Parts: sequence; C-alpha cells; structure tokens
Amino acid sequence: MVQEFHKVGVVGLGTMGAGIVEVFSAGGFEVTGVEIDEAALGRGRAHLEKSLAKAVSKGKLTEDEQRAILGRVTFTTSRDHLSDADFVVEAVSEDIAVKREVFTDLDHICPPGTVLATNTSSLSVTEIAAMTQRPTKVVGLHFFNPAPVMNLVEVAGTVISEEWAVEIATEIAKRVGKTPVVVSDRAGFVANALLVPYLNHAVSVYERGIASREEIDSAVVKSAGMPMGPLALLDLIGIDVALAVIDVLWAEFRGPRHAVAPLLRRMATAGLLGRKSGRGFYDYSRDEPPEEQ
Ligand code: 3HC
Repeated sequence: MVQEFHKVGVVGLGTMGAGIVEVFSAGGFEVTGVEIDEAALGRGRAHLEKSLAKAVSKGKLTEDEQRAILGRVTFTTSRDHLSDADFVVEAVSEDIAVKREVFTDLDHICPPGTVLATNTSSLSVTEIAAMTQRPTKVVGLHFFNPAPVMNLVEVAGTVISEEWAVEIATEIAKRVGKTPVVVSDRAGFVANALLVPYLNHAVSVYERGIASREEIDSAVVKSAGMPMGPLALLDLIGIDVALAVIDVLWAEFRGPRHAVAPLLRRMATAGLLGRKSGRGFYDYSRDEPPEEQ
C-alpha cells in the first residue's frame, strides 16, 4: 500500500516541520510543505537549505542528491495543494486551538482515506483525532530534533485508531529510513516520558547552583557518552517545547519527577527559548556551547 504512496504533505515548517520535509523528500516522496504566510515559508525553506548544505559538508549527501531533494519539494501557503496527498503530517505549534483549525481544514481538503498524522510531543493524539470526521485515521508520528539526523520515530495509535492507519505510518517511517516504535497515546509517549524529567532535573541542579551550565553538560557528556549535555539539549529542543511536555507529564501522572523546575517556566515566559530565539541556557549570539563538552 505504502508503495503506491507518492505525495506527502507537511503542514508547519518550523524546526521540526522543515526537518520532516527533508526526511520525506530524501526518502523519495514528492513533498508539499505548507506554511501560513510567505515569511514563514521563506524561513522553512531556508531551514531546509541550511540542513542540506550541512549534510553535504558532512559528506552525508552529494550535491546531486541535494538538488534532487530540493526538487521534490513544493513550498506553498495554500493547503488546497494537499487535496491529492496520500499522507499528511502536521507540525504546527503545540497549541490545541491551532491544531484544531489545521485538522478541521485538512479534514475537508484531504481525500477521506488519507491518514492524517500529528508530530505533537505534548498534546493528546486522541483529542486531535476527535476534532476530525475521520478519527480512526489520525495517528501520532513523532520525530526527534534534528529530524534528518535522529533515527527514532514514535508511531502513536489511539484507542480508536484503525490498525491499518498505524501500519501505514509505521511503513512510511521505515521507507524514509527511520526506526519506528509503536506506542500508545499517553503523555510523553515513551521517549519524552523518560527524557524530559531528566532534563527538568538538570535545570533544578543548575538552578540550585550545584554546578555551572558547562559543568552540568560536560558531566553528562563525559560520564554517560551522550552527544550533548541536558542544558544544551534543552536549548536545541526549545525551552517552550520542553515545558509543554513536562506540564502534560505533571497533569497526567503527578509524580515528583514531573514537577517543573521553576527556572524552566521563567525562561519560557521571558522568551529565552533556546537556539530558535538566540538565547536559552547559552547565548547563541555570543557563546556557543563549548566544543569539548
Ligand atoms: N544532515 C545529516 N547528517 C547530519 C546533519 C545534517 N544536517 N548534521 C549532523 N549530521 C550527522 C553528522 O554527520 C554526524 O554523523 P556521524 O556520527 O555518522 O559522523 C552526526 O550527525 C553528529 O554530528 P556531529 O558530531 O558533527 O555534531 P553536530 O553538532 O553536527 O550534531 C547533533 C549535532 C546531531 C544535534 C548531536 O549533537 C546530537 O545527536 N544531539 C542530541 C540530539 C537529541 O537528543 N535529540 C532528541 C531531542 S528530544 C526531541 O526532539 C523530542 C521532542 O518532542 C522534545
């Protein structure tokens, strides 16, 4: 069935959406990337171009492959271009009202058989599915940042998903070279339920003045072999995104590991969102995290 799929849509071209466009196009699909206006579309395209240039510089892609990947992507501000999409992934902001507007619209535009997936990391897939007239065909397809590099994809079925829809999402993830794990729709799925409490704990350690940001990051990298420390990783993920995840973990489980570190919320309120805003735990206009972390 997936072999017959050619056209994939991605709605929302922020950090995750632009990365997902790259993944699908590199996997051979014709991809339509949709944004709300020309400025956001331009940022999404620039994100994709920068990531492809980095992949070329790292020897992961040839220049011919880079051109072919770009050539398979159509950028548009009109969701009507998704009227013949075989599969659509939503990657707009983690705001339930924004998701509702997008899913209601996609439900009208896309053929009734099209599976609609959400890249949400903090909202309920079941609640999103219930916004549509095709709740059995809505699943979670959760990528990790940076999407072109991280291998895992969580495929989240709900209590009403058709098995077929989960299988389609799983097959698509495999076709683009990812390792899918099928999870159920619960707060944080599996990866974030484990990862985000650890990141939140690192913020507490920093907030209590136990060590500097560099020492905390370096301690983890050098002891546990992780590619980056927790504070640098929070800056990569986005302080707002991490906060949204820890908040839903608290709402659903209320364990001591899920109580948000106050500094995390203060930073989100102050707009210190990490790399995407230029400043988080580190200041990206001045001091990149040290190379040797
Ligand atoms: N395209 C293709 N490959 C790339 C690439 C790109 N744009 N950028 C980097 N790579 C490859 C490199 O070639 C290298 O591959 P290799 O190991 O085969 O040689 C590998 O990625 C690592 O690259 P580098 O060591 O040169 O370091 P970078 O600074 O370029 O990589 C990083 C940065 C990939 C972000 C790395 O630090 C990392 O893996 N960090 C951890 C990221 C992580 O944990 N993400 C999950 C966050 S949780 C999440 O997203 C869930 C959400 O819901 C909250």
